[in-house]
Amino acid sequence: MFIKRPPNGIDLPFPSEITPRAVYEGRRDFLARIAATAAVGTGIWEMANREAFAQAAGQRLAAQANPALSTSEKQTPFKDATRYNNFYEFGTDKSDPAENAHTLRTRPWTVTIEGEVKKPVTLDIDRLLKLAPLEERIYRLRCVEGWSMVIPWVGYPLSHLLRQVEPTGNARFVEFTTLADRSQMPGLRSRVLDWPYVEGLRMDEAMHPLSLLTVGMYGQVLPNQNGAPVRLVVPWKYGFKSAKSIVRIRLLGKQPRTAWNDSAPNEYGFYSNVNPNVDHPRWSQATERRIGEDGFFQPKRKTLMFNGYDQVASLYTGMDLKKFY
Ligand code: MTE
Repeated sequence: MFIKRPPNGIDLPFPSEITPRAVYEGRRDFLARIAATAAVGTGIWEMANREAFAQAAGQRLAAQANPALSTSEKQTPFKDATRYNNFYEFGTDKSDPAENAHTLRTRPWTVTIEGEVKKPVTLDIDRLLKLAPLEERIYRLRCVEGWSMVIPWVGYPLSHLLRQVEPTGNARFVEFTTLADRSQMPGLRSRVLDWPYVEGLRMDEAMHPLSLLTVGMYGQVLPNQNGAPVRLVVPWKYGFKSAKSIVRIRLLGKQPRTAWNDSAPNEYGFYSNVNPNVDHPRWSQATERRIGEDGFFQPKRKTLMFNGYDQVASLYTGMDLKKFY
């Protein structure tokens, strides 16, 4: 998606489609189950999580809806959210991840959290999943290519995990490194990026309640192509900040290098906040097309500052967001 010359011409969004009935029915069923158990404590959540994660991708995942942090906009059909992807480790075409990511092995899986922390740790994914109750949050995700989706993610705030390892006073940034294993990821043969895929956030961004450590979507365990078993979702930033299939989280005193910034620094800044007033050199950021909803000949919808998540504005007070793009 970000390579300077698109390999296969212009990417067209999928035509409008309705959400498959099974997905809707499944969601209704799962929300009803959540309502029935709303009053129960963490013990039950842990049991539910353990049970769910003993299973493979596609299995149901119990989570409590968080309406306060969810948009009520129409959700992108499951089919589009899982077949129109960017996950270059599995190929650069939008359809490649869905076709190729079945080779990703999501168990056993560990995530190492280290650097400027008092309690560095390597956590087994099944333990990481049980550190906090899972929530469902329906977020807009805006890609720098000019399209967007609305996805019900399942996870818990990244801040829960970071607090567990007790950041030192020197921790100012967080670096996320994702899996780079040639035996599982055919896309690594291409030199489109300097692997592994690395992303980063400033510490206050990482600790913001909207930053979600994500393990599922649409009430299910994350499909491999969407970043199983654990990814980030940072809804006020362009989609490429939301690193998939994370294996290491490092707290640092200095701003980390990031894969896209390394590959084209004039195109991808460290901050990458959604900003309709700052165009990417090759794509206007003023408008966007909602995948699965907006037809190709329909007028595009306006992109909102911070993707509409105004509550993060205070993180950038006094910063020139044209300079820190
Ligand atoms: N993470 C890794 N490891 N590799 C990638 O190529 N692509 C990013 C991001 N995370 C990417 C990644 C980009 S460009 C986007 S837009 C989102 O994942 C897409 O997430 P989705 O496919 O679940 O919509």
